[in-house]
Amino acid sequence: MTCLVTGGTGFIGSYIIKELLKDGEQIVAYDSFPGTEIHDRIFSKEEKEKVKVTIGDVTDLAQLIRTVKENKVNKLVHMAYMLTNDTAANPPRGIRVNIEGTNNVFETARILGLEKVVWASSVSVYGSADKYKEKLVPNDAPQYGANLYGACKVFNERMAEHYYSAFGVNSIAIRFAWIYGPGQRGTGGAANITRELMENPAFGKPGRVPYGEGVVNWLYVEDAARATALACKVSRTESRAFNTSGDIRSMKEAAQYVATLVPGAALTLLPGKPVQPSSFDVSKIEKELGFRPQWTMERGIKHTMNTLRQWRGMPPM
Ligand SMILES: NC(=O)c1ccc[n+]([C@@H]2O[C@H](COP(=O)([O-])OP(=O)(O)OC[C@H]3O[C@@H](n4cnc5c(N)ncnc54)[C@H](O)[C@@H]3O)[C@@H](O)[C@H]2O)c1
Repeated sequence: MTCLVTGGTGFIGSYIIKELLKDGEQIVAYDSFPGTEIHDRIFSKEEKEKVKVTIGDVTDLAQLIRTVKENKVNKLVHMAYMLTNDTAANPPRGIRVNIEGTNNVFETARILGLEKVVWASSVSVYGSADKYKEKLVPNDAPQYGANLYGACKVFNERMAEHYYSAFGVNSIAIRFAWIYGPGQRGTGGAANITRELMENPAFGKPGRVPYGEGVVNWLYVEDAARATALACKVSRTESRAFNTSGDIRSMKEAAQYVATLVPGAALTLLPGKPVQPSSFDVSKIEKELGFRPQWTMERGIKHTMNTLRQWRGMPPM
């Protein structure tokens, strides 16, 4: 089986590739960004040799179809996207990449009759927490999309339903919670938390941590990658999209834990909390994909900080 991963040199895409390699998949990483530094960090020499990196843009349907055909691809994993802040700053480009790009992925699957599309949705489809009365947001709860990025994910989920009902395109969306881990980059909210809460203290720098009064759903990147790989393996599912959940813990607890690893860490908890809800009903992903997270917040934070130090030749904490 050959799997093409859009956004395959990005943060989550790279960890997904590592997970798919364990299942013996052939991999094409398709990304507009040519840098492979995350691959260089997390893949062994043997793993790296098994990954073909192709520079390509998801907004270019012809190039996507050509790459899929040339490499005899059976499945598409779609991670290429513009994240929250970049979409907000440049709506025309955001809509082009997030809406048209995702449509191109579904069109490719439809035209070439591919086996499956597995793609990244987000719990940001849900909008602000005050809209939900349940303790756990149900898998089929109404979607309001808190921002333009979330609204694009809402539209993408509707599009996936249409491609399934009208054309039989088999797809699974994983609604990722807050993902963190070594190699995360960019200006998005999740990358900002990783940098301020984990990276800065790991190198003795001060951190200004957002959402100091809030609760976060911490999904370690290897758990996110495993959920995606499980979605690639199952044949048919009843649901087209699945809530995920990691460890549901307050930012205050996270900062207190970092202070046990780095005594005297100069962390400032900024006021405020995330707009979105933090607790989701995950009974469907457990039942249909067999996914349960394996990483606690403490384990994930410690591993992230120690890995970042190791990459700079420093001893673990
Ligand atoms: N990080 C999180 O907390 C989080 C949470 C929920 C959902 N997600 C989703 O997971 C997916 C991956 O996010 P990430 O955190 O790995 O981000 P990332 O920015 O590290 O990876 C995205 C990749 O897409 C590539 N890309 C962007 N535009 C492209 C285009 N036009 N053509 C081809 N490639 C393009 C980028 O170069 C990058 O390598 C995204 O769909 C994101 O919305 C992430």
